[in-house]
Amino acid sequence: MRKHIVAGNWKMNKTAEETLQLIKDLKSKIKTSNAEVMIAPTAVNLLSAVNSCKDSEIEVIAQNMHFAENGAYTGEVSAEMLKSVGVKTVILGHSERRAYFNETDESLAKKVDQALKQNMRIIFCFGEELSDRKAGNEETVVESQIKNALFHLDASAFKNIVLAYEPVWAIGTGETASPEQAQDMHAFIRKTLGDTYGNSVADDMTILYGGSVKPANAKEIFGKPDVDGGLIGGASLKAEDFFAIVNAF
Ligand code: G3P
Repeated sequence: MRKHIVAGNWKMNKTAEETLQLIKDLKSKIKTSNAEVMIAPTAVNLLSAVNSCKDSEIEVIAQNMHFAENGAYTGEVSAEMLKSVGVKTVILGHSERRAYFNETDESLAKKVDQALKQNMRIIFCFGEELSDRKAGNEETVVESQIKNALFHLDASAFKNIVLAYEPVWAIGTGETASPEQAQDMHAFIRKTLGDTYGNSVADDMTILYGGSVKPANAKEIFGKPDVDGGLIGGASLKAEDFFAIVNAF
């Protein structure tokens, strides 16, 4: 079902103590919201974050997982381990993992399959580079990222998937996509989904925007018809900023 979601991707930030302090500050501000609120601390802090958020509306989610059920993958985390600490949703395909850890559409398809096998919800990230957009290829790039990683799935699988469009050139740069650019791409994504899976899957799909969302621009971006919320990086690390973005709905 299509929802409003604001998720904070903390990336490689916050120690164990800082994690609990930020959650304490968020809980004091975020009592109820018109959006589902999620935070993604780093893996070492997930259990303490889940326990700290138990008496709140905040869902704790993971930033990544491995495609295998278990095994000789030093340093990796499995879906089963995430579920064992109470995490039911995982971010996959973030551009930083594609860039720094060589994740490809094909390797991400394997992670998607494993996450769905383990009944996890997925926030699937994709987005074009600045060079793609300058060349007018942004739709071609986004379409191939989505189709290569997701379009082997049955229509029923999409009820467990949230899409997150994150133009790489807007991530961490302060160069936010305009609300019109976000709306145009989200509408294209929804049409691409509908052309293959039908309008009910497309209409029910939650599509988030990520890339320099701030308190000052969140309301206008979230106000666009095909934007269902945001995946927030830098601004999720400060309670007052994240709270302001959550309240943009
Ligand atoms: O996953 C969200 C992130 O990539 C966006 O980062 O700092 O531009 O909000 P930021």
